[in-house]
Amino acid sequence: MTAPAPAATGTPNVKALYSDYAAGMETYIMFRIAQRVVDLTDELTAKGRPPIKMSIGAPTSDPPQILKDKVKELMDEPGIHTYSVPKGEKYFRDAASRRMKARFGIDINPNTEVSSLIGSKEGLAQMFRCIITPTLDESQQDIILTPDPGYASYQDAIKIAGGMCYPTVLNAENNYMPDFPKILEKIAAKGLDPKKVKALIVNYPSNPIGATVPFSYYHDVIEFARKHNILVISDIAYSEMYFEGEEPPHSVLEVPGAMDIAIEFHSLSKPYAVTGWRLGFAVGNADAVGILAKMKGTADSGLWKVMQKAAAFALESPECDAYIRKQALVYKENQDFMVEGFKKLGWPMEELNLPKFTFYFWLPIPKNYNSCEKFASDVLEKSGVVLVPGTAFGQSGEGFVRLSLVNPKDELAEVIRRLDEDGFHY
Ligand SMILES: Cc1ncc(COP(=O)(O)O)c(C=O)c1O
Repeated sequence: MTAPAPAATGTPNVKALYSDYAAGMETYIMFRIAQRVVDLTDELTAKGRPPIKMSIGAPTSDPPQILKDKVKELMDEPGIHTYSVPKGEKYFRDAASRRMKARFGIDINPNTEVSSLIGSKEGLAQMFRCIITPTLDESQQDIILTPDPGYASYQDAIKIAGGMCYPTVLNAENNYMPDFPKILEKIAAKGLDPKKVKALIVNYPSNPIGATVPFSYYHDVIEFARKHNILVISDIAYSEMYFEGEEPPHSVLEVPGAMDIAIEFHSLSKPYAVTGWRLGFAVGNADAVGILAKMKGTADSGLWKVMQKAAAFALESPECDAYIRKQALVYKENQDFMVEGFKKLGWPMEELNLPKFTFYFWLPIPKNYNSCEKFASDVLEKSGVVLVPGTAFGQSGEGFVRLSLVNPKDELAEVIRRLDEDGFHY
């Protein structure tokens, strides 16, 4: 017997049920770009320009063999396939804490000052929910100071949490170091309440610029944050990705007193080439970590224990460290190669601040363009080369495109060849 059809009471409309926050939400920029590439693939392939993605902020290399072997081995461990807890197993937190000591010289209590994350993107989004009281009324919104240009996910995640993103500009003129006291003054001058500033984000080495800062800047940031009771959210996803001979980036938590007011988000994604594994951890102030773990408990039940054990292994494996250093050499080689390539295409490479960190390349658009979106779109449609327009990272990104130098050499050479052939010169 089939169930009777429900009585018609109106026209169903699921969209009308969306929250005011979700209704205004756009698809994440990187997924939008990926979809555009899928839509154009047949057409581009037919004209001999199959897409070359210079857009993906992820290594294309295989993870360290020893780490893959570890995961295979872990599959058969008793109890490994059941739920964990949002903040992670003790062995994971212990390993993260020992890593912080070995790498940065910081003492971290594994019971109260560490939480596992299902990737740092997830952790950051949950952190914003912990400190923002949601409202669509701009005059009442909690404010988070975010780097501009900066990782696109900050803006989206803050908006959806019902807060306001206030851009802090990073450029060559300010040496990529926003002046936070001045920014607070500007906020007041705009008629916004500086007391609504709940947090500031620092991301060094930075996406998309690859910039970093002297350690003394972190001292200033912590002093400012302590004075105004503003949470410092340090996103250090690229901390291990420094070129040979460079000083390894510092943790903000190395600054005396930082543990009172800062939380730092670490990611295993890029250094270990395991972006799909979703491995990260947060460390820092116990209250911040505690509320984060509590918030996570409303949405997840922890990271798969195979991943936690693999991460614990990776964080203390000399072989994995050697892998990271080897990859940094590859990224430097790729950069050297592209610098030569763009030079031949007329770009004034000597005038640029070339990154010594990450695998990103922040390239000014040619003189005959005044929109980075138009340039990226033309390059995609004509040459099949996928670039990310600078404005995807904030308004200060206008005039630039971001390339990720993670592709094999033959693809890099093909990018330069196509740009030349298709008339894209500086
Ligand atoms: C600056 C920055 N932070 C965080 C992330 C997120 O990394 P994951 O969620 O893989 O740990 C990314 C990824 O591109 C990033 O560029």
